[in-house]
Amino acid sequence: MNIIVTGGAGFIGGNFCHYMTKKYPEDTILCIDKLTYAGNLETLAPIMDKPNFKFFQADIADREAIYKIFQEEKPDIVVNFAAESHVDRSITDPEVFLRTNIIGTSVMLDACREYGITRYHQVSTDEVYGDLPLDRPDLFFTEDTPIHTSSPYSASKASADLLVQAYARTYKLPCTISRCSNNYGPYHFPEKLIPLIISNVLNDKKVPVYGKGENVRDWLYVEDHCIAIDLIIRKGTVGEVYNIGGHNEKTNLEVVKTVLDKLGKSEELISYVSDRPGHDRRYAIDPAKIHKELGWLPETTFETGIQKTVDWYLDNRTWWENIISGEYKNYYEKMYGNRG
Ligand code: NAD
Ligand code: DAU
Repeated sequence: MNIIVTGGAGFIGGNFCHYMTKKYPEDTILCIDKLTYAGNLETLAPIMDKPNFKFFQADIADREAIYKIFQEEKPDIVVNFAAESHVDRSITDPEVFLRTNIIGTSVMLDACREYGITRYHQVSTDEVYGDLPLDRPDLFFTEDTPIHTSSPYSASKASADLLVQAYARTYKLPCTISRCSNNYGPYHFPEKLIPLIISNVLNDKKVPVYGKGENVRDWLYVEDHCIAIDLIIRKGTVGEVYNIGGHNEKTNLEVVKTVLDKLGKSEELISYVSDRPGHDRRYAIDPAKIHKELGWLPETTFETGIQKTVDWYLDNRTWWENIISGEYKNYYEKMYGNRG
């Protein structure tokens, strides 16, 4: 099979390309990525020369470029990871989120209609459900929870989901959608909480915690997300949405303290800064459907996953040092420089 993976030079898409090229030598992975600030060919270096991997630099919102790839490569399956993914950036500059996450998704769907595929899979997020109160630990997001977004990022991802569902119903396009909780693991761009803590701490910098650090995220090791998507594209039911998460809720402060502890550093490095506008309080996935229908359960505990992640950042300093020494410096200054 020929499988298009968009956004494969990013965090989760990159891990997915590694996973799929290793597991299915008989399939060809066709990675499409624009190489924005978040895309990194270093992430793909270990698989770039594999016979079952091809890389195309292209923008998913560029219809001509995308149609050409479909025409020449004749994909069977498309997995759309490509997106602008950082909530904070969506608050300062929403427009590119609309272009990539909505228009880009519509171009991918049109290409699938035009050339025919057996499955289009949209990689969505639990953020489309909005947030849950901190004092109701009994509540979880199910696939039936109404869409209720908070940030320009989540609004753009929810719009994309609605488009996918519209194409599935109107044009009978064979689609599935997955909505996953927060991922962590290797190749995670340092603007996101866990790699930001690790890279700051290893450079003896303070760790910025938004508000009081009480917000809750439901963390999943990235390989478990890859396994779930692989199961959905092979065994999932067309037209369905699948939530992915492992009941691993932690406050941000708990996460920060765990990473500081793993690195043998003092909690004095914590710096409380002003909150993210519209900050979602709690995400918590109910993964009962994917467990019941596809037998999926996370394989990596937080204790194991966070140790593997810290070890990966210690062993792969060049990967993230190349990032933080470049344009990222300007981003960091703008985002955190004058933050009280
Ligand atoms: P990322 O920001 O690390 O990577 C995104 C990739 O998409 C980059 O390689 C970038 O170059 C590429 N890209 C951006 N715009 C593009 C365009 N117009 N055309 C082609 N490529 C483009 O993101 P991530 O964290 O790996 O997230 C991947 C997907 O998973 C996203 O759709 C995101 O919404 C979703 N998701 C992420 C998480 C998480 O915790 N990171 C959780 C649930 C869902
Ligand atoms: O839930 C899935 C989502 O998880 C994905 O859809 C997004 O693409 C992904 O970026 C992630 O979104 P979050 O906003 O939850 O992730 P982030 O790493 O930016 O922040 C995690 C929590 O940590 C959040 O409550 C904000 C807080 N935070 C973040 C940063 C970068 C801090 O306290 N300090 C920081 O410096």
